[in-house]
Amino acid sequence: MLSKLRVRDLTSSTEHLGKQTVKGWAKTHRRSKNISFIELTDGSCVKGLQLVIEPGLASYAEVAAEVTTGSSIEVTGTLIESPARGQLVEFQVEEFALVGTADAESYPLQKKGHTLEFLREVLHLRSRSNTLGAVFRIRSRASLAIHQFFQEKDFIYVHTPIITTSDCEGAGEMFRVTTLDLQNVPVANGEVDFSQDFFKDEASLTVSGQLEAEIFALSHGNCYTFGPTFRSENSNTSRHLSEFWMIEPEMAFCDLEGDMALGDEFVKYVIADVLEHCAEDLAFLQEREWVEYDLVQTLQQVVDTKCEVLEYTKAIEILEKSGKNFEFPVEWGIDLQAEHEKYLTDEYVKGPVFVINYPKEIKAFYMRMNEDNKTVAAMDMLVPRLGEIIGGSQREERHDTLKERIKAAGMPLEPYWWYLELRKYGSVPHAGFGLGFERLLMYLTGMQNIRDVIPFPRHPGYAQF
Ligand code: 4AD
Ligand code: MG
Repeated sequence: MLSKLRVRDLTSSTEHLGKQTVKGWAKTHRRSKNISFIELTDGSCVKGLQLVIEPGLASYAEVAAEVTTGSSIEVTGTLIESPARGQLVEFQVEEFALVGTADAESYPLQKKGHTLEFLREVLHLRSRSNTLGAVFRIRSRASLAIHQFFQEKDFIYVHTPIITTSDCEGAGEMFRVTTLDLQNVPVANGEVDFSQDFFKDEASLTVSGQLEAEIFALSHGNCYTFGPTFRSENSNTSRHLSEFWMIEPEMAFCDLEGDMALGDEFVKYVIADVLEHCAEDLAFLQEREWVEYDLVQTLQQVVDTKCEVLEYTKAIEILEKSGKNFEFPVEWGIDLQAEHEKYLTDEYVKGPVFVINYPKEIKAFYMRMNEDNKTVAAMDMLVPRLGEIIGGSQREERHDTLKERIKAAGMPLEPYWWYLELRKYGSVPHAGFGLGFERLLMYLTGMQNIRDVIPFPRHPGYAQF
């Protein structure tokens, strides 16, 4: 087992001076006649522990030639205050054991930095790199902060299904789940006979837990989900994954205002928590060459300022008056493209913004129709450099209006029978949103490709590991 004290604990203060045993991996190994140095890492922090070794030490001398970058080691010795600059402590090795070698000729992660593209080819090793190591520690901490936020507010955590027969977004971007023999598909009336399939119906991986979360909002008041969602949209971009994690709160007796207030508070809470608990990792990421702005200051600014709100109609006016030559022409009714979002956040608002009340034609069937009969009570939170991180709405709680909206979307009514029934038995105004976890992580870490903030990215053409 790893010792209770990790490299992070040993190196962050002089509290633990004295006899210790440490286990981990060699990041670098420098040998000279009088003294050897190994930087030992164990995944607990960016910086390693400096091991200082007397080359004559028998347990070391026997294996020294085999201690290469990536090999695993166990050492016992004494943690002392370091005379060297730039580190509080160093470790004088008294007993050395090489646990596992890493052939220097073939081990892909050498001392020198690697490109993020290269690291994506070695997903089994990349979490050992400084950058990805920091990102995944932040991912873990942010997950905790998310649960903490909702639990402190008395939201109940619901596990919504991953396999489902309803298409929440109505966009037809679902991965099918089937045990049918693809060489010999049963057919009835010229169509695939799903009644012979495992679930006796067409089943898919969920694109969102929202519809089921609404069930729990109407039983428990406030709830949230936090789980994987799947989309088969063919978007090979730096902001899209085929499998991503979403946090979806849902609140009864709540309107669009309340929904935005929660979104704003939530994002600030998670950012503030990460600023507090991951300062060292953020400082490291700040120094990466692709982060061309003050990451920590940008995050702090979000915590300190109220997120602005823009009506969609107003946003269109602003874009039309911008004098910019957009690739996608702007007119009322269009879905905002990345370039439009970027102008609004980076140049107009210069910070995060909620865009609200979108045309009904470009939004999902479940969003509540506004009195103008043209727009729905939708809200997207857009952030600089990245665009949309939250998509949410007040839900259509009126039975007949909802039924019409499903039909108007060209969707079958049958799979939504229970969703409609919720509007017959104690329906209340309610609202919620979905935060794309990886989008938030991109914002938190300054990483520019969404494939670098999830341990095992899935995207068109790729589902290895
Ligand atoms: O805007 P979306 O599609 O909204 C929903 O799914 C609603 N059912 C949520 C709700 O109201 N409960 O997705 C929500 C968020 C987006 O704002 C984005 O951050 C993220 O999920 N997202 C993706 N992240 C990575 N890869 C993709 N392909 C994504 N699609 C959406
Ligand atoms: Mg959206």
